Amino acid sequence: MYFTGFQCIACSALQSADYAGYTCPACGGNLDITYDYDGLKNRLGKERLVTFGRPDMFRYAPLLPLDRPGLAPPLRIGWTPLYAAGRLGAPLGLKQLYIKDDGLNPSASFKDRAGAVALVRAREKGAKVIAGASTGNAGSSMACLTASVGLPCVIFVPEKAPPAKIAQLLVFGARVLAVRGTYDDAFDLCMKICDERGWFNRNTGHNPFTREGKKTCSYEICEQLGWHAPDRVVVPTGDGNIISGIWKGMKDLYAVGLIDRLPKIDCAQSEKSNAITRAVEQVRAAHPDGAASVDWRHVRIEPVKATTLADSISVDVPRDGLAAVRAVIESGGEACTVPDEEILAAIPELARGAGVFAEPAAACAWAVTRRLAQAGRIQPDEKVICLVTGNGLKDVGAARKAAGEPVLIKPTVEAANDALADL
Ligand SMILES: Cc1ncc(COP(=O)(O)O)c(C=O)c1O
Ligand SMILES: [Zn+2]
Repeated sequence: MYFTGFQCIACSALQSADYAGYTCPACGGNLDITYDYDGLKNRLGKERLVTFGRPDMFRYAPLLPLDRPGLAPPLRIGWTPLYAAGRLGAPLGLKQLYIKDDGLNPSASFKDRAGAVALVRAREKGAKVIAGASTGNAGSSMACLTASVGLPCVIFVPEKAPPAKIAQLLVFGARVLAVRGTYDDAFDLCMKICDERGWFNRNTGHNPFTREGKKTCSYEICEQLGWHAPDRVVVPTGDGNIISGIWKGMKDLYAVGLIDRLPKIDCAQSEKSNAITRAVEQVRAAHPDGAASVDWRHVRIEPVKATTLADSISVDVPRDGLAAVRAVIESGGEACTVPDEEILAAIPELARGAGVFAEPAAACAWAVTRRLAQAGRIQPDEKVICLVTGNGLKDVGAARKAAGEPVLIKPTVEAANDALADL
């Protein structure tokens, strides 16, 4: 194994690989997992980095912090399609637009990548129960994955999570506690219960292993592009754990020599849940000379009162905010918000232009890509990956609002022909 330990994202303090805590003992910051990149590169060699015998994200097992990747769930996780989306990009002049459709994972969201690595870690540690708080997807994913190996799972969700996500949780047999409050309330409660009961805590950001699963999406993007990095990846962002995972994956590949340059990572948010975008703007205003001069110990992410309809990215206190801000600033990416109306409009646009049905949070990536292109912040020749993180069937209510109504007719040929007169 090439996993060497943990490093604090805020104060850079190091912990060894046998450290059993979740966060930095010095400052409480989130931890990033460290690797022996030279060992990976020199002893293992490029070819063997991707030859572990599974046709999914566990093909990259040597780059994961796991002793026993054989404990991975039997489901196919990751290795989702990367579609060239020329027709969608053409009206904006984007010549190399791609959609990475992570809604095609087993529980229909990107979160399966995080849950899969967390699950193996929990099994390695002999955990009896996995618990987590979720806006919906992280929980339904954990419920799905634990069901596939028969491990008990307890999920705390805000009571207003979309019905499809709650249905998934219940169908997969998780113990579901619908908290009368927000995601942030559910998160804090889960922390307390895990501390009290000694359960394995999967909470996003707090648990450093989730980011490691998420980074595999970057490996796939580059492998699917023939081991070339794109110019940018546009990532829908709430807690900031996906975007920090995407950046981590790119940095890993660069460190082991599988790609020869790093892409920009762009943060896509709703105007009504914009904590990370605001923090990026503040850091940039205070450090016009660039990332090198930033002392991350002193960067604070101010909470917001999130009200966006894109429930998966509706977050007051981003739980991996600092890592997210670092991803955008260090990669030289953009941080951009859009109004909820543009997020809703992006659902049918993406579906009609590329054949991909996204839930609102995921459609936010397209709404932001479109805005950045219109504002000249993305250039026409750039190779752009728009990351679709969740399937549209997760929130049919939002899709129906955006997609209009069917034509209601009598069951006659005449009525059908009238309705179809323009075809
Ligand atoms: C579909 C979807 N998109 C985006 C996100 C945002 O990820 P993060 O909270 O790590 O920023 C989530 C998180 O729940 C999600 O479920
Ligand atoms: Zn620290």
